Amino acid sequence: MTTPTTIELKPSASPLSDAEREALLAAPGFGRYFTDHMVTIRWTEGRGWHDAQLVPYGPLSLDPANMTLHYAQEIFEGLKAYRRPDGTVATFRPEANAARFQRSARRMAMPELPAETFIAACDALVQQDKAWVPAHGGEDSLYLRPFMIAAEVGLGVRPANEYLFLVIASPAGAYFPGGVEPVSVWLSENYVRAVPGGIGDAKTGGNYAASLLAQAEAAAEGCAQVAYLDAVEHRWVEELGGMNLYFVYGDRIVTPELTGSLLAGITRDSLLTLAGDLGYTSVEGRISKEQWRRDAENGTLTEVFACGTAAVITPVGVVKTANGQWTQSGGEPGEVTLRLRAALLDIQTGKGADAHGWMHEL
Ligand code: PLP
Ligand code: COI
Repeated sequence: MTTPTTIELKPSASPLSDAEREALLAAPGFGRYFTDHMVTIRWTEGRGWHDAQLVPYGPLSLDPANMTLHYAQEIFEGLKAYRRPDGTVATFRPEANAARFQRSARRMAMPELPAETFIAACDALVQQDKAWVPAHGGEDSLYLRPFMIAAEVGLGVRPANEYLFLVIASPAGAYFPGGVEPVSVWLSENYVRAVPGGIGDAKTGGNYAASLLAQAEAAAEGCAQVAYLDAVEHRWVEELGGMNLYFVYGDRIVTPELTGSLLAGITRDSLLTLAGDLGYTSVEGRISKEQWRRDAENGTLTEVFACGTAAVITPVGVVKTANGQWTQSGGEPGEVTLRLRAALLDIQTGKGADAHGWMHEL
């Protein structure tokens, strides 16, 4: 059985008129509206990947004893398609998402989807629903959400023998309502996101479920995100609930090293390279919570920002802890943050040259 790379098309007419779709695209928010179609591909033990289809977007029918609903054997990805100045559309580093999807699959004892099938599935959906890709000129994009769930029915705890891979798409504006305004973060002492040997470096729903109570605690403190510390010493800064972190020391940018319990972000990785293009030095290292506060207060830590596909690059303004708070960069977006953000978006939107070959044209 060969793995499908061509997707059988069963498209339908859009349930929305052009004017209705344009009205949604004018203020898409994040993850609120979904396009007209989705891709589905099945995997069955002994048969492998089969039945790749592009079908109308719609509900799934799941048996109440579907294993995913009970034991959370699930993984997902997030990547964006941008409209370029000439009207064509391209996605940002889909092969990196395909590779991370395979790593997440291995960790969650799920079958690996070949990278070319992952990319073909994303391409097919974007081609079909191209009218949903926001116009060139702003920062809006079409967010793609590939994901895989166990499809077997039963309550035994073991890897399933059937899986369903899907891709859905949603037009995306700024993840945070304030756009590039600095967000406040809550440095959590009560909860950790991931543990050594756990699933922190897999993009799997359980990590996000585990973050919700801490996220609610942060919201009660008036913060938009939680900053997590390592689970052993409760000392080393790892990442936010859905974004990586960068610390700016003048013209040197530092991001927490990949310890196995934080997600290897593709934006994080891209910035390690882009920093060099702009004349900055980038390093992976360790930052303790004590160092964060001390360096922010003595002014050597000039900026902090969060980065990820949904968040792009978002400055961190106020940091709150159980023992007081401090402000980064005077609570304003810093110069290095804004330069890196502009350079990244220029590549993604096709405004600037794609020097590293990151854009995948459809
Ligand atoms: N860390 C977590 C926990 C995330 O959910 C994400 C988002 O995908 C990131 C970091 C950033 O990763 P990427 O830049 O690949 O989107
Ligand atoms: C992404 O940036 O793609 C994510 O999955 C993060 C989530 C907070 C939306």
